[in-house]
Amino acid sequence: VVARLVHDRLTLSVDAAGEHLHRRGWRLATAKAPLREHLAAAVVLASGWDAATPFVDPCCGSGTLAIEAALLARSMAPGLTRSFAAERWPSLPPGTFEVARARAAAAVRTPAAPIFASDHLDGAVRAAAANAERAGVADLVEVRRQDVADLRPPAGPGALVTNPPYGMRVGPGRDLTELYRTIGGVARARLPGWLVAVLTVPGPLGPATGLPVAPVLTTTTGGTRVTLLAGRVPAGRVHSEQ
Ligand SMILES: C[S@@+](CC[C@H](N)C(=O)[O-])C[C@H]1O[C@@H](n2cnc3c(N)ncnc32)[C@H](O)[C@@H]1O
Repeated sequence: VVARLVHDRLTLSVDAAGEHLHRRGWRLATAKAPLREHLAAAVVLASGWDAATPFVDPCCGSGTLAIEAALLARSMAPGLTRSFAAERWPSLPPGTFEVARARAAAAVRTPAAPIFASDHLDGAVRAAAANAERAGVADLVEVRRQDVADLRPPAGPGALVTNPPYGMRVGPGRDLTELYRTIGGVARARLPGWLVAVLTVPGPLGPATGLPVAPVLTTTTGGTRVTLLAGRVPAGRVHSEQ
């Protein structure tokens, strides 16, 4: 129970969650600069991916975007594998949480499309695979070590949704423009007609992809303002890679 007294106004609140709600219970392994799970879910939803086509994150880090995509595609309630403080409230009728969990479990469905997560770092790949296992989606998310330049996507169309480094928390001092150019070049050469969504900081990195993307979501993560740029790769015309 939390009591807050502000200017003679007392607010009492009771913590029903316990652990913060963005903690789904599966993200124990982290790579550099992980996104919070609820932000990753918001990014997947805002990207416009319809869960019926392949989903690819070629800079997956600890796999948060791909795993949240898998949970959404599978209709798995985000809190299905965690506990809540309210489960111990004596005022709740017995069985309340069991019934809710059974309903959530019954809603789980078999998704139609595969999900791919890759990163060029071994540690990130290991973290993503372990997280996918804990989240119960290891059978749906294929994790591999791969540089984004070597991306060989499945037959499309599908969605490439990613959160490349943006120089604040990963690789400070490196020229990231080249990485964003590579992502754009790979998309134009190998992903015609695909949806592309890139979460990055406002500034020159997004435009460096050369893709026809526009802001669809702006928020903050770790105190940094970030924007999700999304759009569709022009279909039918294969450009040379940069
Ligand atoms: C901001 S982190 C992604 C964090 C991730 N969204 C999460 O929640 O854990 C960016 C990732 O891009 C990866 N990366 C950077 N350059 C890459 C490249 N050329 N090919 C593949 N992955 C790359 C980094 O290793 C890092 O894991």
